Amino acid sequence: MDPLPAPRLGSRDLFPTLQARAYLSHAAISPVSLLVQRAATQAMEDFSAWGVGAFPLWAKQRQELRAALGRLIGAAPEDIALTPGTTHSISQLAFSLDWQEGDRLVIFQGEFPANVTPWQMAAKHFGLELLALPLPPNTSSGAPSDPAGELLDRLEATLRREAIRLVAVSAVQFQTGFRMPLAAMGRLCRTYGAELAVDGIQACGAVPLDVETQHIDYLSCGAHKWLMGLEGAGFTYVRPGLAPRLVPRLAGWLSHTDAEAFLFQGPGHLRYDRPLKTSAAVLEGSSTNVVGMAALQAAVSTLLQLGVTDIFEHVQAYLDALEPELEALGCRSLRARKPESRSCILSVRLPEGVDGAAVVTHLRDARIPVSYPDGLLRFSPHFPNSLTEVSAVASELRHALHGAP
Ligand SMILES: Cc1ncc(COP(=O)(O)O)c(C=O)c1O
Repeated sequence: MDPLPAPRLGSRDLFPTLQARAYLSHAAISPVSLLVQRAATQAMEDFSAWGVGAFPLWAKQRQELRAALGRLIGAAPEDIALTPGTTHSISQLAFSLDWQEGDRLVIFQGEFPANVTPWQMAAKHFGLELLALPLPPNTSSGAPSDPAGELLDRLEATLRREAIRLVAVSAVQFQTGFRMPLAAMGRLCRTYGAELAVDGIQACGAVPLDVETQHIDYLSCGAHKWLMGLEGAGFTYVRPGLAPRLVPRLAGWLSHTDAEAFLFQGPGHLRYDRPLKTSAAVLEGSSTNVVGMAALQAAVSTLLQLGVTDIFEHVQAYLDALEPELEALGCRSLRARKPESRSCILSVRLPEGVDGAAVVTHLRDARIPVSYPDGLLRFSPHFPNSLTEVSAVASELRHALHGAP
């Protein structure tokens, strides 16, 4: 097999068929690299050739994936479960905590629904109380101030007053790109006896994240955005010591210890009373998405090779160049003023009276895919984007807003 080009910041060598002039929708769905394609194809070929014989090979590969994900987020492999998309992960957690009726949870208004619906369902089922805190005004309206400080003050007041069991938040807000002050939020949660559950899908892979220093208790993440894998695969992190306390109400056959003994060890091993695993793997109750996880492993090893900090800095340089161009066209940037609150998303409010959907269509037809969540124009470059694209993006946007360039 021909060797593939090494990944490089600002290079599309690994994305030779990508149709976009500037692909700016990684916050929605990323294109996959040749490395990812090759891994997914390899898995298919192995199962095509060997059927069940391919199983041990790819089970071993998934052990490596756990280790790679662990390196990405500062966790041990045994604290990571390979799970489907973000929502599945959050639902698993929401239905596996040892709730007491009346427990209170904090969520945030303006969150992506994946990080709201499962908590609403759990609240209904277990008789919990959901408190929805507003995001600071300038993360949704663009007014400058100290959004992280405001948010922390509000959170602390709530934690002090309400005896909160769990705070659920996205590491990065999907529409504004605001990076939440996770380390400080985690410290507050610790101080007031609450747990911190994080939806990492808008951060993991391109924004540095560390479960240890950010005091994250649970992390849910899907593969298809900044991790650059495929939809339908993902992972769940559970802080050491917390997994044994889970009440895995959605456990499946693989959640038991020695779950596969009856398949390989002869008669007498088919039992239904084996204890449940006391690690994060208890959340892996069913057979795995082989192709999705093969793809995810290739995607994550590419990111680790490049280094998340370097990817983040590369994207910041791109957004530093793009932001003034957009502002010069009358757009209002919602990018945080403080670097520590920035992510790899740059969202802008279009000038008054502009038909945003038409702008998105114009850009799409010009092969510049962007997204339009909640009426904001969202640009989300990743490591393959080159700064040389920025002038073409600005010129197409000018065209969309003001007619001929
Ligand atoms: C913050 C956030 N969480 C979750 C999701 C998606 O969740 P899932 O992986 O379940 O499709 C998205 C975007 O699609 C998102 O922006």
